[in-house]
Amino acid sequence: MRDATRQPLVWESLQAAIAGRSALDILDAGGGTGGFAVPLARLGHSVTVVDPSPDSLAGLERRAAEAGVTVTALQGDAGDLADLLPAASADLVLCHSVLEYVDDPAAALASVHTVVRPGGVVSVLAANPVATAIHRALAGNFAEAADVLRTGTWGEKDPTPRRFTGDTLAALLSKAGFTVGEVQGVRVFTDLVPSRFAEDDPDGLVELERVAITHPVLRDIATRLHLLAHR
Ligand SMILES: C[S@@+](CC[C@H](N)C(=O)[O-])C[C@H]1O[C@@H](n2cnc3c(N)ncnc32)[C@H](O)[C@@H]1O
Repeated sequence: MRDATRQPLVWESLQAAIAGRSALDILDAGGGTGGFAVPLARLGHSVTVVDPSPDSLAGLERRAAEAGVTVTALQGDAGDLADLLPAASADLVLCHSVLEYVDDPAAALASVHTVVRPGGVVSVLAANPVATAIHRALAGNFAEAADVLRTGTWGEKDPTPRRFTGDTLAALLSKAGFTVGEVQGVRVFTDLVPSRFAEDDPDGLVELERVAITHPVLRDIATRLHLLAHR
């Protein structure tokens, strides 16, 4: 799993959202092996990861031990947060690359809402079907590109069960009771340019992505869409 440093602009957005606040209660729903949870714990926050995968939680515990921090690992489903954690107990909840896999994204976000404190923030990151359509088309898979635009998946072999447009994500968050911020497009160019260009000038690419992240046209073709929303 990616470390937060591999997603520098999502990390920057989170940092800006909690700027100047210390010792926060943070929940990473579907946090996997702790790519964000462990760096957040290193900043002094109190971090809990809820994830159904025992293997991921074991990886999280190893990563936390290597970093010399403690992260609370709870096995569970994003839809059951209300049973696992006290209501209104988190200042920040991460829900990154998880809504694609849960049984019911609306129920999962309703569950997230119960654990966010009034004034608290949820950070949602999700796969964008438009980017996948571009990638499938560039690989010559035109029918799959059309399918992913129509249905959010490109076929039976697609490992991602569903994808979301910015509008769909914003509507889901709104319906769950959140006040939704701006849609950000994460990885507009990174997955399109040849990797040798990215390796030659990584800082230039991040700077380009920083300009593209809220660009009104380009953000809609990004590999992932990121939204911050407030309770
Ligand atoms: C693509 S990984 C993302 C991990 C991490 N959030 C990240 O951004 O790197 C998807 C994660 O969602 C978890 N997951 C799958 N179904 C879930 C569910 N119903 N509730 C919570 N997490 C779930 C998986 O175990 C896995 O750790």
